[in-house]
Amino acid sequence: MSEIGITVTQHLLGQQAEHGGATGAFTRLLNELILSAKIISREVTKAGLVEILGFTGARNVQDEQVRKLDVYAHDIIIRRLCHSGHLCVMASEEDADPIEIPRGFQVGNYVLMFDPLDGSSNIDANVSIGTIFSILRKKSPGVGYQMSDLLQPGFQQVAAGYFLYGSSTMMVYTTGAGVSGFTLDPSVGEFLLSHPNIEIPSRGKIFSANVGYWDYWSQETKNYIDYLRRPDQNKPVYSCRYIGSLVADFHRTLLYGGVFLYPADSKDPKKPHGKLRLLYECSPLAFVCEQAGGAATTGRERIMEIMPQELHQRVPIIIGSPEEVYMAEQFYDGRLS
Ligand code: AHG
Ligand code: MN
Ligand code: MN
Repeated sequence: MSEIGITVTQHLLGQQAEHGGATGAFTRLLNELILSAKIISREVTKAGLVEILGFTGARNVQDEQVRKLDVYAHDIIIRRLCHSGHLCVMASEEDADPIEIPRGFQVGNYVLMFDPLDGSSNIDANVSIGTIFSILRKKSPGVGYQMSDLLQPGFQQVAAGYFLYGSSTMMVYTTGAGVSGFTLDPSVGEFLLSHPNIEIPSRGKIFSANVGYWDYWSQETKNYIDYLRRPDQNKPVYSCRYIGSLVADFHRTLLYGGVFLYPADSKDPKKPHGKLRLLYECSPLAFVCEQAGGAATTGRERIMEIMPQELHQRVPIIIGSPEEVYMAEQFYDGRLS
């Protein structure tokens, strides 16, 4: 091992070597994503110093105000990944439609879906934000893509992960053989292995939810949160921690244990299934969580088994340590109240 430890590229090449017959396409694809994240990290770090904060004035497909850094991150990833030569199509939170590979560019057999900047409402407050990605294989025959290539259930993912732009910039990913975490060393510009084989504690002492929406939650959700909050000698006293950046809230849950939930609520009739999107937020984080020994459910079904119906579909999510997640399911299926 070199004096700086294992780089993410070395780690990827090691995983590639274990996948006999691997062509290196996946490694090159992920390396383009890693380079994009380094560029985004650089801009996020100096965001307060240059005119890249604030709103663009536009509203995205989610009917949310778009911030300049959202668009910047979106554009960086698209520009770099179009050149990777290994994608047949992309989809982003910031674009209503699938993003085609421009004519003249080499096309490949992978599909990339991503949230270019998650938690962007927190940028101005210097709160941690992130990028989430999900990689699938093209399933449709022939050249080009079909919507079916994008609307695949989570268990079809070949890789998933996130970048966290916080006190340090981290990358956490899985290819289905466990979860590894890397920390960016700005002095050498490399992501170095800092968290080999991440495993989520079987239970924790933190629940993470926006309890400000209490009055809009279902009775099952209220009963579950009441259970977590109720003093009981058979379980720890739970703290509530909610950052409002999914990647940051999930990363803490992954390392410390406990549960994050963004349940269905009635605050916006247009979003009856909660706020978070299945394909580029819930599904990739569910893959990472399950690979770390955790679980991810809507309360009634495993996130990784949902058959997507549309690109920006929203689902409720309860994700984290197995004990807390399985307990939640007992409140949603009526076994507990
Ligand atoms: P995005 O910035 O990609 O739109 O995601 C924001 C999400 C997620 O990061 C976080 O968990 C959630 O919004 C917070 O929503 P509330 O403010 O409604 O709690
Ligand atoms: Mn998001
Ligand atoms: Mn986003």
